[in-house]
Amino acid sequence: FFDILIFKTINKLVMTSVKISPSILSCDFSKIGSEVEALEKAGADYIHVDVMDGHFVPNLTIGPDVIKKIRPYSKKIFDVHLMISPVDKYIEQFANAGSDIITFHPEATENIDHTISLIKKFNKKVGISLKPKSEISLIKNFLKKVDLVLIMSVEPGFGGQKFMPEVLPKLEELKKIIDNEKYKIDLEIDGGINFKNSKMAKEAGANILVSGSTIFKENNGDLKKNINLLRNN
Ligand code: DX5
Ligand code: ZN
Repeated sequence: FFDILIFKTINKLVMTSVKISPSILSCDFSKIGSEVEALEKAGADYIHVDVMDGHFVPNLTIGPDVIKKIRPYSKKIFDVHLMISPVDKYIEQFANAGSDIITFHPEATENIDHTISLIKKFNKKVGISLKPKSEISLIKNFLKKVDLVLIMSVEPGFGGQKFMPEVLPKLEELKKIIDNEKYKIDLEIDGGINFKNSKMAKEAGANILVSGSTIFKENNGDLKKNINLLRNN
């Protein structure tokens, strides 16, 4: 009886230690600053900023100047997801704009090591992202150099898409590698996360959940309620 009780308590603790990183892609773009402020007040752990260039992905969103403008609205970590290529020539601008974590896609650079060292040169945390069909082999040799792996559970480019559960085995496999090698790497899942699939994403090994449409649209846009539901489900 006590073993089960201890297991359940640990499991609960691990699950609720999950961080929530709301994506501002789903926010009201006419007032991004106050939306970021509202997310901080609502208990967001990170602010997920989706940067798209209309080249690496078929959508265009915001650039470093917008990040610079919204930086003063929150002290929370800016978890910047660069869906852009080429990427190296913009790292400095995103770093100086106030990004804290800079995540790039390996397919967006000719030299992954060089992009990682560029991000580190500006003392930012390094994230590397796998699209749903991209394999772990693409990033395995770089795991010892990064702080975060972002597993996409939708094809990058748009919010409000359907969660792709077929990426969960990849997440489990990555979690195993990280635990075996004792790497200090956050596992972030991004795309279609909602109240139904958040638990299985955590059980598969994610310790950071990104969510845009669920947080901004569910329960009449009650940000605090939606963030808590994702964290505690
Ligand atoms: C998609 C972005 C995701 C997306 C998440 O390319 O990287 O961060 O905005 O939004 P939802 O939660 O609506 O799928
Ligand atoms: Zn994203």
